[in-house]
Amino acid sequence: MKINTKSFHENGYLIVKNFYSETLINQIKKDIFDISIQIYKKYNPDFVPPKFNQKNFDEVVLRARNEKISEITSAIYDACKKLRGFYEIISNKKLHLLAEKLIGSKKLGILPGGFGMRIDYPKDRYWKARLHQDYTSQLGSPNGIVCYTPLGKLNKKMGPVILYSKSHKKGVFKTKVDLSGLKKKKTYDPYYIQISKKELKKFKVKYLNLKETDLGLFHFLLLHESGFNSSNQIRWSMVHRMFDFSHKQAINQNYIGGLMEGNIFKRSKNI
Ligand SMILES: [Fe+2]
Repeated sequence: MKINTKSFHENGYLIVKNFYSETLINQIKKDIFDISIQIYKKYNPDFVPPKFNQKNFDEVVLRARNEKISEITSAIYDACKKLRGFYEIISNKKLHLLAEKLIGSKKLGILPGGFGMRIDYPKDRYWKARLHQDYTSQLGSPNGIVCYTPLGKLNKKMGPVILYSKSHKKGVFKTKVDLSGLKKKKTYDPYYIQISKKELKKFKVKYLNLKETDLGLFHFLLLHESGFNSSNQIRWSMVHRMFDFSHKQAINQNYIGGLMEGNIFKRSKNI
């Protein structure tokens, strides 16, 4: 596989088409389909499930969401981290070789709190990721990458991730921690990047508009945000992160993970 590492370092992201097999992606979809039916049937034992196909794998999850059965939606979210197919994605040998080249290190780690399925429901604003750099919330090491693959083909209405090209070159942006949004239950995220609209506009925008066997990779310091999902479909994204164990800052901070391990980023620590 010929990989343009130069373009990754220049722009902060790389897209590799047809990286994963359709068989693997379908296995993940089928597992989600089966699990969602099992849980849904606890609430509605007479439910007659549809026959599985690649497009209706999330029909029951969406149904549960529309019926406001939050136990189902949170159970599915947690179950996604337990799918064997997801672990195959994370431990893919080809991906690790690629990551070594992009990160420029053979000492790579995986953040245990940094992998999971993003389930972006139609019209949801609470979980929509605001402008951020993954390093701030994930830590590990400033030298790391985010690996992203959707389930299902994305389109602009579904609000694909918006990447701000070349922004990783600016280092760690100043962030403000504001817990008021959390208290009002408007957002889950306490971090606000300190950047003016004018400054942000200077970066060229790239939509991570992928299909399900594609792999998107972007630098830990690249500014990005979720688009708004204005469609009537769920946007499913498998996300995980790898980082460089040999980076000086990573060693200084003992490779701690971020929010998921209870660690709040503090710029004063010279991270
Ligand atoms: Fe992110």
